[in-house]
Amino acid sequence: VLGESLRGELGPDHVWLTDDDGGPVGVAYYAPERMAEGTWNLYMLAVHPDRQRQGRGAAMVRHVERELSGRGARLLLIETSGLGRFERTRAFYRALRYDEEARIRDFYNAGDDKVVFRKALGGDR
Ligand SMILES: CC(C)(COP(=O)(O)OP(=O)(O)OC[C@H]1O[C@@H](n2cnc3c(N)ncnc32)[C@H](O)[C@@H]1OP(=O)(O)O)[C@@H](O)C(=O)NCCC(=O)NCCS
Repeated sequence: VLGESLRGELGPDHVWLTDDDGGPVGVAYYAPERMAEGTWNLYMLAVHPDRQRQGRGAAMVRHVERELSGRGARLLLIETSGLGRFERTRAFYRALRYDEEARIRDFYNAGDDKVVFRKALGGDR
């Protein structure tokens, strides 16, 4: 995806966002869902391990939400693993008021579910 994106093959709706503080400390990638209208997916979000728990991830998500609301987007989805070691990631999305909306059992691997978080943009629904 990164290669296609850098070659400009994915179009302007595929957005890479970086957080820079004397060097790259965070990255986010989001794009619209293909089979839906106004529904977007935050496919990637990562903060450098030395810079986590400083509010940087929340700031990036809020930036994405504002940018998408400005485009008239309706929904933002975020997918992550249901494994125990991703509990802190799920706690992060819950803290940002994402609803745990769906779970596809054994999606990533046997015993490794996909958990889909959802937030309605531009108002509570
Ligand atoms: C998940 C991730 C992006 C969060 O970014 P971050 O900059 O560390 O998070 P923030 O400092 O903005 O946290 C915002 C809030 O989320 C919650 N939160 C964040 N990390 C948490 C943790 N480890 N445990 C529980 N709650 C957590 C807290 O409520 C926190 O607010 P507080 O610090 O005032 O209590 C980051 O930890 C990361 O890159 N993890 C590894 C990669 C990953 O899992 N990416 C997501 C894949 S889907």
